[in-house]
Amino acid sequence: MTPPSPTRFLTGITTSGTPHLGNYVGSVRHSVRFSRRADVQSFYFLADYHALIKVDDPVRIQRSTLEIAASWLACGLDPERVTFYRQSDIPEIPELTWFLTCVTGKGILNRAHAYKASVDKNVAKGEDPDADVSAGLFMYPVLMGADILMFNAHKVPVGRDQVQHIEMARDMAQRFNHLYGEHFTLPEAEIDDAVATLPGLDGRKMSKSYDNTIPLFTPRAQLQKLIGSIVTDSRAPGEPKETEGSALFQIYQAFADAEETAALRKAYAEGIAWGDAKQLVFERIDREIAPMRAHYEALINDPAQIERILLAGAEKARALSQPFIGRLRHAVGLRRLEAPAAAATRKAAKVARPSFKQYRESDGQFYFKLLDAQGELLLQSRAFASPQEAGRAIGRLQQEGGAALAPLAEQLEPADNDRKRAAVEALEALAAPSLAANGG
Ligand code: TRP
Repeated sequence: MTPPSPTRFLTGITTSGTPHLGNYVGSVRHSVRFSRRADVQSFYFLADYHALIKVDDPVRIQRSTLEIAASWLACGLDPERVTFYRQSDIPEIPELTWFLTCVTGKGILNRAHAYKASVDKNVAKGEDPDADVSAGLFMYPVLMGADILMFNAHKVPVGRDQVQHIEMARDMAQRFNHLYGEHFTLPEAEIDDAVATLPGLDGRKMSKSYDNTIPLFTPRAQLQKLIGSIVTDSRAPGEPKETEGSALFQIYQAFADAEETAALRKAYAEGIAWGDAKQLVFERIDREIAPMRAHYEALINDPAQIERILLAGAEKARALSQPFIGRLRHAVGLRRLEAPAAAATRKAAKVARPSFKQYRESDGQFYFKLLDAQGELLLQSRAFASPQEAGRAIGRLQQEGGAALAPLAEQLEPADNDRKRAAVEALEALAAPSLAANGG
């Protein structure tokens, strides 16, 4: 398949927690800005199947999904512009996970960092290597590979800890392509080292696992209180303060421009009281967050609206994943029995293929139809003013398969569901490279 011309970016966010300032500075802020660029096509999804690997509290999964979706939308992610969906709304992803499972060496998964870290910990404690390790944790990289390959992403923006997963997804794609034909784009990791990691309340990296986070959309009074609790040293008002190693300073810097940062540096040197510095930091952060917080609160109180947005996103995503999984099913041999088997002769394959017929009616207009091998009508076009226009629509159906049906709907006569399903299958068979090679 020819790759789409804009670069396709895809990122998943595991729905296991509440977004904090570190997530905002390290990922959300940058991603939202990036998604507005004309030369990129972005896919953002809530990785709730991944969350099940770590979290066994259903209420927390649901709450986190709501909070993360509301946060991204409040921060300006435009669901009209990007494809924003929930992983578990795309049943093609678990199906692809299985296809990839079958082309992934177990030994490769043995070497995945997250799994290995758990094993090493067990061994160090003298326990069974796989104690408390779920098969879900072991399979994590395959599910992630399916997320990425399902939409043929070119680039996957991730932290350094995730690079190995992207490399594994490439391996899976290569192996599958080798066995079954060129179906998958080989994805690349996109690491942005310029993106800041933020210190948390205790000065270590802000992270849920250290319990030192400041929730992104905590109410204003709570934000002030939390910023007030960031560690400082014991220097008194009037004593010069060090910016180096000051968590408060680093947090300020992630929000302030160069001029503001220089001013705080000067204030530190001149001995600003910690209480005053904290007030300044609070006001600066709140200035950026407050307008989004209002939006967040409106969204979080209207889960039905978020649900609608996610379902619309899933529909957009499935317009791609459904026809694609159809081609993949065909490629691996999960085929309807009346379709020609791979062992059939070239000639038999050719005879049995569905075909397009282009013709002119007595009204002087141009039409086409798609007939199955038995001459049964599968698709009927409406009138075209020229044979070229009809030809273009046929070309698109041949190339894109079932995915072209929705965009071409205006040019086709409506059909009932059975007929539609048969048409999609016929188109997938035509678009599938392995069959094309057989019949062509
Ligand atoms: N593993 C990612 C993380 O923990 C989340 C994730 C799941 C993801 N699927 C993905 C990221 C696909 C990028 C692409 O951050």
